[in-house]
Amino acid sequence: MPRTAEVRARTGGLDVRKITYSEEQIDQRVREMGKEITAAYQDGGEILVLGLLKGSFIFLADLVRHIERPVQVDFLVASSYGSGTVSSGDVKLVYDPDAKMEGRHLLLVEDIVDSGNTMNRLIPLLQERGPKSLEIVALLHKHIAPNLVKEPRWVGFDAPQEFLIGYGLDHSEKYRNLPFIASL
Ligand code: IMP
Ligand code: MG
Repeated sequence: MPRTAEVRARTGGLDVRKITYSEEQIDQRVREMGKEITAAYQDGGEILVLGLLKGSFIFLADLVRHIERPVQVDFLVASSYGSGTVSSGDVKLVYDPDAKMEGRHLLLVEDIVDSGNTMNRLIPLLQERGPKSLEIVALLHKHIAPNLVKEPRWVGFDAPQEFLIGYGLDHSEKYRNLPFIASL
């Protein structure tokens, strides 16, 4: 385990099992994705980059610096669901940006696609707003979602079916500040 003391200082003493993606691997992949995204938007139109909080905040911050196109950045906060919460069937946006979406290129930034529930609820909602284009970029994809309404056009890494932390990803709101991605 590299830099054990430094990792423990950030985790409050916990040792991570394994570094799944190192800082260097993430940096390299994020740069590549920035290039691919840059190449995909050729019409000169501005891209509205929408980060899904909180998990995407570090990825988005790094990614937008490698997109060599005009961008605006905003964020979405979706209502949480899951055990103990009865799903209403449609996602509620707890924070919905003022930015106009009609006729614009939307690029939705996700930290990780797991069950796909978040995407499956958000995508129709964003589509209703009449964007010129709508694409998803996900840092990680577990490829276990049975029927995604829309696949991410860009995926950083095909992730193992493990619980991952770091680089924005949390476990009970902790570990987001690890500079690498680790398995809990
Ligand atoms: P989904 O709706 O199940 O696809 O996943 C939605 C959210 O769950 C993601 O945006 C993450 O915030 C969180 N999540 C899913 N898998 C993991 C994981 O392995 N580590 C940390 N958060 C996760
Ligand atoms: Mg989370």
